[in-house]
Amino acid sequence: MKINKLGLSVKESEVIVEKLNVLMSNFQVHYQNLRGLHWNIRGKRFFDLHLKFEELYNDSQLKIDLIAERVLTLGGKPSHTFEAYLEKNILRIGENISKDTEAVQLVIESLVTLLEIEREILHFSDEINDEGTNSMISDFIKEQEKMIWMFQAWLEE
Ligand SMILES: [Fe+2]
Repeated sequence: MKINKLGLSVKESEVIVEKLNVLMSNFQVHYQNLRGLHWNIRGKRFFDLHLKFEELYNDSQLKIDLIAERVLTLGGKPSHTFEAYLEKNILRIGENISKDTEAVQLVIESLVTLLEIEREILHFSDEINDEGTNSMISDFIKEQEKMIWMFQAWLEE
C-alpha cells in the first residue's frame, strides 16, 4: 500500500478528496442559496431572517475553506469552478424565494442533504482512520443538527 506524507493510504485519501469536493460543491450552492435568501426575504420577520441568513452564509464560507484546506492537506486539489460545483451539486437551487417559511424550509432541506453527504464521508474516513477528516466532519454534523433543531422550532407557529 502506497502511503502519503500523513501516513494515510494514497488511494484511500484520493477517495476522501473526491467525497470532500462533493461536499464542498454542495456547500457552495448552499452558500449561494443563503445569499439569495438574505437578499430576497420579505415580510414582518425581515430583520431577523436577513441577519440569520447572513450568519449562516458566513458560517458556510468558513466551512468551505476548511474543507478545501483539508483536501489540500490530503494531497488533493479543491474544486473551485462553478462548473465543478454544479456538476457535483445535489441540493435544490432556490431562486427568488421571499416568503419566510419557504426560505426556512429550503435551509432545513439543504442542511439535511449536507448531513447525508457528511455521514457518508464520516463512515469512510472512520474506516481508514482518517481522524483529521473525522473530527472536522463530526463538528459540522453537530452544528448542523443543532441548526435544524432551531429552524424546526422556528417553523412551529
Ligand atoms: Fe448583506
